Amino acid sequence: MDTANRILVLFAHPALHKSWVNRRLIRAIDDLEDVTLHDLYEAYPGFHIDVKREQDLLLAHDVIVFQHPFYWYSSPAILKEWQDLVLEHGFAYGSGGTALGGKKFLSAITTGGQHGAYGRSGANRFTIRELLTPFEQTAHLCGMDYLPPFVIHGTHLLREAGQIAPYARAYRHLLMGLRDDTLRWDALAEGEYLHQNFERVLSPSPVTDHA
Ligand SMILES: Cc1cc2nc3c(=O)[nH]c(=O)nc-3n(C[C@H](O)[C@H](O)[C@H](O)COP(=O)(O)O)c2cc1C
Repeated sequence: MDTANRILVLFAHPALHKSWVNRRLIRAIDDLEDVTLHDLYEAYPGFHIDVKREQDLLLAHDVIVFQHPFYWYSSPAILKEWQDLVLEHGFAYGSGGTALGGKKFLSAITTGGQHGAYGRSGANRFTIRELLTPFEQTAHLCGMDYLPPFVIHGTHLLREAGQIAPYARAYRHLLMGLRDDTLRWDALAEGEYLHQNFERVLSPSPVTDHA
């Protein structure tokens, strides 16, 4: 089968051995064809990012996913370093910087805070969509289509592996849908998060569940 889109998952977790949720998410997608899982902390333990290699990876994929735990309302440090070095003028933006034009961008994050904590009346005062605006604007400046984020809230309450399994399945299905272009884009753009109204986002044809 010809794949519609190749997906690059840029994964950033500085302590994967302690991860409860992200570990299970990557396990749910690591066998997917045409999905490249790129663990940045594993690849660059000393933060010496190979810019040319990363730019070549970007060029070879159609959908770019930033997957990480939410740390201080943003990403773990290596993903910021990656952006600072890899998204060069003349490559990603500015004069002649069209390498990423037309690609899709997705944030896939996990947060300790519950959904209710992210809003005007919550402890974190801002919505996740608002807090992710630096990522949204970066994608926009680079000519990419920004998708609603995939967000798992309240990770501290997900103590049983069985509680994470539905999210892991949803994540797998979303990446399959993005890869195969079987998502309904009209419904996709509507939700606060990508997996809300998930049934409506998926195409009428069921996706096989291997998770
Ligand atoms: C340094 C650090 C900063 C964090 N900052 C936030 C934050 O800003 N908002 C939030 O909801 N959770 C925050 N958390 C909680 C993590 O998002 C949560 O532990 C993680 O998503 C769980 O995923 P994991 O099981 O894969 O590690 C933070 C955790 C750490 C260690």
